[in-house]
Amino acid sequence: MAQWCFVGVVVVAILAFASAARLPTDWGRCHRTDPNLEICLRENVEEAIHKLKNGSPELGLSSFDPLDIPELVIGEGKGTVHVTQHFKNLKLYGLTGSKVLSSSVDFNEKKLYARSITPLLRLQGHYTMAGRILLLPIVGDGECNITLINTKINHTLTAEEKIKKGKVFWTFKDYSITLTPEKMTYKFDNLFDGDKALGDNINQVLNENWNEVFSDVREGYEKGIGAIFHNLANRVFSVVPLEEIYLL
Ligand SMILES: *[C@@H]1O[C@H](CO)[C@@H](O)[C@H](O)[C@H]1NC(C)=O
Ligand SMILES: *[C@@H]1O[C@H](CO)[C@@H](O)[C@H](O)[C@H]1NC(C)=O
Repeated sequence: MAQWCFVGVVVVAILAFASAARLPTDWGRCHRTDPNLEICLRENVEEAIHKLKNGSPELGLSSFDPLDIPELVIGEGKGTVHVTQHFKNLKLYGLTGSKVLSSSVDFNEKKLYARSITPLLRLQGHYTMAGRILLLPIVGDGECNITLINTKINHTLTAEEKIKKGKVFWTFKDYSITLTPEKMTYKFDNLFDGDKALGDNINQVLNENWNEVFSDVREGYEKGIGAIFHNLANRVFSVVPLEEIYLL
């Protein structure tokens, strides 16, 4: 079965694998020839994500909720966001609450697709920024809490085949996502050296204009979070042969 999408997201602490690993025995598998392959995938991927809430010793994965993101840099936008957002020691909460809306695989093109929705995603950690947003100056260095509500994510993964010891593995050359939150809230602490009135004011402006702000830098978030999914998906797929994932 395929956890690519979030299996990907899966996790971090992967042990070093000397050779091929197996999927946990209690995870569902799908047959490649199943006429209902897409339904099977959707169900099994979602179940795997929920099971991974506690990590998977078989795969050497620790829990990925929260997922640790040591560093994330979101560049300036082309519109109202004239500031680079530097995040450090972020924790991303909520991925294991994701629902998989659909998923499919194209063996000829070696592509995987999935759509998911995550009811509540929260990024918490340290930020620094100095620039302008919506024409207002914004300078800060402190803790932040960025919450995304009902975020639809489209996942498109492009694989290449590798043969190791006679078994076929997929590694992903590309993992692209689109992020579409229904709503976002920003809370940046310690803006303007802790000037509370100014800081509250800026947070309020950001929240009232969240969509304009997010749209301008959305590509940065998609690249940053997509890169994390990409890395994690490859960690799983590079150790589990394809025949373990989709039964032949
Ligand atoms: C983060 O912000 C959300 C939305 O404002 C809020 O519900 C949540 O309690 C905050 N969490 C923390 C840990 O500050
Ligand atoms: C996500 O995929 C769906 C179904 O293919 C499509 O309707 C939607 O426009 C896509 N969203 C984005 C942001 O590309």
